[in-house]
Amino acid sequence: MGSKNKLKRFRENETFNNVIQPTRDELVNAEFSLKGHWSKNQFKNNNPVVLELGCGKGEYSVALAKKYPNKNFIGIDIKGARFWRGAKTAVEEDINNVAFLRTQIELIEYAFAENEVDEIWITFPDPQIKYKRTKHRMTNAAFLQRYKQVLKPEGIVNLKTDSEFMHGYTLGLLHGAGHEVLYANHNVYKQEGSPEDVTAIQTFYESQYLQLQKPITYIAFKIK
Ligand SMILES: C[S@@+](CC[C@H](N)C(=O)[O-])C[C@H]1O[C@@H](n2cnc3c(N)ncnc32)[C@H](O)[C@@H]1O
Repeated sequence: MGSKNKLKRFRENETFNNVIQPTRDELVNAEFSLKGHWSKNQFKNNNPVVLELGCGKGEYSVALAKKYPNKNFIGIDIKGARFWRGAKTAVEEDINNVAFLRTQIELIEYAFAENEVDEIWITFPDPQIKYKRTKHRMTNAAFLQRYKQVLKPEGIVNLKTDSEFMHGYTLGLLHGAGHEVLYANHNVYKQEGSPEDVTAIQTFYESQYLQLQKPITYIAFKIK
């Protein structure tokens, strides 16, 4: 995407009520006003909150918001020019139970209060295979602790990925640390049994992997 186009999207994001872009300082050094109040203040209801981490264009957030009007969905990504797509669709189609938060997932506990989140989707995270990059891997122990801090005790994390490495790494880590694996499938379109939400929605990255005939994997788990 050209820089002109990006700039246009950044400008448009500023005008959308469903896009929230706090600075790092606002999150870390001040009390972020939506923290603990997302449903009431952003969505004007008391409905459960579901996050999509690394949402990209926000396909999951938008599709699930349409399917579950009684839940609130928040797509999180550091790249505003990507989630502009989801935010724009939500504005155009008048979908009011979805929003986009531009921040680093590392700061999630500054953006949400304890027990504020009912469920998390992690959709096609970069597997960060190189050893030097492991601290950025979105299902490592440090990230799981961050998710646990904002999730309700019974809250579920869903991981959908094309990466056999990420799938195996996450399963191993979950078993090793005594977390509860609710469901695992290493080829969701071939092996029966995946929930409909897993197979009925495809993200932008996913559609590219599907063209390459890569198996798509899925894990649902609870953090103990
Ligand atoms: C491989 S893309 C997947 C995007 C989308 N979920 C999809 O399936 O099409 C990974 C996304 O995660 C975002 N991301 C990676 N690390 C992040 C971090 N630490 N904080 C926020 N976003 C991050 C990237 O900007 C990118 O949009």
